[in-house]
Amino acid sequence: MSLAPPSAALLARLADRLGPAGFTQDPAALAPWLTDWRRRMTGAAAALVAPATLDEAAFVVAAAAEARVALVPQGGNSSMVGGATPPADGPGALLVSLRRMQRIRAVSPEDNAITAEAGVVLADLHEAAAAHGRRFPLSLAAKGNATVGGLISTNAGGTQVLRFGPMRALVLGLEGVFGNGLRLEQLTPLRKDNRGYDLKQLLIGAEGTLGLVTAATLRLVPAFRARAVAWIGLDDAGAALTLLRRLEDRLGEAVESFELIPEEGLALVLRHIPGTQAPLAGAHRWHVLIEAVGDAAVAPALEAALAAEAERGGLADAVLAQNERQAEALWRLRESLSEAEARDGLAAKHDIAVPVAAMPGFIETASAAVAARFAGARPIAFGHLGDGNVHFNVRAPRDADDRAWFAREAAAVSRFVHGLVLDAGGTLSAEHGIGRFKRDDFAALGEPDRLAGLRAVKQLFDPAGILNPGALLPLAEPAPAP
Ligand code: MLT
Ligand code: ZN
Repeated sequence: MSLAPPSAALLARLADRLGPAGFTQDPAALAPWLTDWRRRMTGAAAALVAPATLDEAAFVVAAAAEARVALVPQGGNSSMVGGATPPADGPGALLVSLRRMQRIRAVSPEDNAITAEAGVVLADLHEAAAAHGRRFPLSLAAKGNATVGGLISTNAGGTQVLRFGPMRALVLGLEGVFGNGLRLEQLTPLRKDNRGYDLKQLLIGAEGTLGLVTAATLRLVPAFRARAVAWIGLDDAGAALTLLRRLEDRLGEAVESFELIPEEGLALVLRHIPGTQAPLAGAHRWHVLIEAVGDAAVAPALEAALAAEAERGGLADAVLAQNERQAEALWRLRESLSEAEARDGLAAKHDIAVPVAAMPGFIETASAAVAARFAGARPIAFGHLGDGNVHFNVRAPRDADDRAWFAREAAAVSRFVHGLVLDAGGTLSAEHGIGRFKRDDFAALGEPDRLAGLRAVKQLFDPAGILNPGALLPLAEPAPAP
């Protein structure tokens, strides 16, 4: 069933219910939210609607479903995959901002839980937990923009997934509304609840295609007393994985971050990000940023483990941050990588995972295959090696006009890389979601039964097809085979 543009009557109903703080058609107010974070698409919307409560969110969904008008939910607009940008050529959508829902509703250190509304920014969530001697154990470079609702809707990962898992593992309870009007009012800190299907999991990682998330009860963990941050130089990515497993043998779960950075990635950061400095004296093919947390014993323990590895020949060089300022400087090198890469030019970006044991080999063989197939293309792989998730990006040949190259080759490069990943038993979205940028590859390369399963769920919970149409799944069903 096709969607319709919002009528004047619908817009008036929404304006009336949401008031001036929750409804605008002012092009200047809309403009910042209509271009995606990677600046790859600029969309259009008839209005920006911003519910402030679950009731208002449910009203927006019901009104849009009745009128068959598309809703595109948005949090901090930091999607890497165009998941929160309404297309410019659709019938006309309403951009639904959850940013007005900004309250921390409750913190319970006894439950190790915090209840936050969808528009709470991740950095503020960290602060609220810290004020109660607790920690929300998920972080990523966009923490100053990314919101609770967006993190949940994309099942975000980041740089600290190793120990406590991605967003899906951290949501205890959820409040929201599905496209069919069904409300989820389950803001609970319960760890165990066996009443059948776990409905909240349907909204997690759904990329706004099934409903709106308005608030969540999230898991907290104890704050750590001290952290140890080290930067390691290595000759090959396989040695990095061996190093991780050996550190885990000695330090156990204290190792919370294990990030892989190639030499050319570090070079991009040093070239484009002011105030950064090389952490090690010499050059190394690969670098690893490690964070281990615990008490005062954690730094000596990490130092001893690294010394033992150096003795064994398991690493080429290492430096341990001596204070928080140095630790922050090392983290800045890693967290600036994406920005440095963007400043250097356009890249075909991939957010892939393969089984972690296969990842070092995959990086080598896939890099060689891409370079052989696309003359001069420059693969660069960095990220969350400990989780088996790297950003396997492909930059234009050195002397090419990157815009022209991107327009001509990016789609073919991505299809090729995604094919290699799936052949290796992996996924073409590990932490960013499918959104609009990965959708066609997902539809073309995904298993038919997986896609059929997603469509069946979508049909049930969003029967009018109004929620983020064109994200995650293509609008049209694939034509039946002749
Ligand atoms: C990262 O790991 O830095 C982010 O996921 C961003 C990116 O992929 O560029
Ligand atoms: Zn990442």
